[in-house]
Amino acid sequence: MAAASLLPGYYLGLMSGTSMDAVDAVLAVAEAGTFRVHAARAEPLPGPVAERLRRLALPGPADPAGPDPVDELGALDRLVGELFAAAAKGLLAEAGVAASEVRAIGSHGQTLRHRPRSPHPFTLQVGDPNLVAEHTGITVVADFRRRDVALGGQGAPLVPAFHAAVFADPREYRAVLNLGGIANLTLLPPGEAVTGFDTGPANTLLDAWARRHLGTPCDEDGRWAAAGRVDEALLHRLLAHPFLALPPPKSTGPEEFSPAWLDAELAALGHAPAPADVQATLGEFTARTVAEMLAPRPPARLVACGGGARNPHLMGRLGALLPGTRVESSAAYSIDPGHVEAAAFAWLAARTLAGLPGNLPSVTGARRAAVLGAVWPA
Ligand SMILES: Nc1ncnc2c1ncn2[C@@H]1O[C@H](COP(=O)(O)OP(=O)(O)OP(=O)(O)O)[C@@H](O)[C@H]1O
Ligand SMILES: [Mg+2]
Repeated sequence: MAAASLLPGYYLGLMSGTSMDAVDAVLAVAEAGTFRVHAARAEPLPGPVAERLRRLALPGPADPAGPDPVDELGALDRLVGELFAAAAKGLLAEAGVAASEVRAIGSHGQTLRHRPRSPHPFTLQVGDPNLVAEHTGITVVADFRRRDVALGGQGAPLVPAFHAAVFADPREYRAVLNLGGIANLTLLPPGEAVTGFDTGPANTLLDAWARRHLGTPCDEDGRWAAAGRVDEALLHRLLAHPFLALPPPKSTGPEEFSPAWLDAELAALGHAPAPADVQATLGEFTARTVAEMLAPRPPARLVACGGGARNPHLMGRLGALLPGTRVESSAAYSIDPGHVEAAAFAWLAARTLAGLPGNLPSVTGARRAAVLGAVWPA
């Protein structure tokens, strides 16, 4: 991948997405005009921390029996900072690379709220970069999203520039699909501006429903969804969510596609589908919302990344709904689907240190491209 203008050396990306499953740490190297993954490690988020993050991330009035939300925000900012630092140190120890060899850490943090369309648009990530810098002894670049929001943009998705650098082909129309908690698409038609947007949920509701009914963190390999039957009436209701009809640029979060929203749609349905049928419908909902955004101009290839690329049921449904498109995992391009997003934040850190912009106004709707984030020196 082209990276001629980046300062050579190691860059470490740290990412915890809306699934709150793990801190993904990726050590990448920029050298001789290339940028490639050198080593990676996923540090599972301890269950009680994930539970606290999930609770604080859901909108609604504070639970009178729960902690003060501002105190909780401060405590989690610290806890996530410490976990991110530990993930970085664990990866470096495993890879046998000294902290002094790493030019910068690009730390996304953990999103707790994303409100790009509110009267006072904002996006909020925790994971104190001061702690990450102090505990690792490495320069940290963080707070990537808010400059784009300050420029009138969505602050998301930020990965399309990286997707373009890695996966674009001069002759073939490709799209890249990240299946995290939320799904986002990057469209890479040769010779045209890169566009990208969130399509809706990927795993966030699938995980929440599996947690509730199976007591497991996710529906492993989509087996439960595959055993159910799509409830067309429920699918129809879900597809009527107003976010889906918005034109890009657009981005969303689990606050919009929440278990409470699903419960309200189920309550309004007039019948109670079996839990497995709800799971099948949620899988179909993810696949349909992606396929419908690609339908007007189907790409030759759809490169999938994020944890959902490991879900054969979801990948199978995408393939079935996009008959003219070759749907494949990013693994086919020598980049593990679980590494792409964290690698993107390592790359964005390298862009910032080189004084280069990281956002694409054609994606986020920002007034201009900007150097993203701030730098916490080692
Ligand atoms: N084998 C699998 N079968 C089904 N689902 C899986 C499997 N492996 C991973 N997943 C799903 O992928 C999710 C994690 O994906 P990922 O880490 O990309 O999401 P994320 O943390 O929300 O990231 P981001 O917001 O950066 O895109 C899990 O919560 C789970 O739902
Ligand atoms: Mg994750």
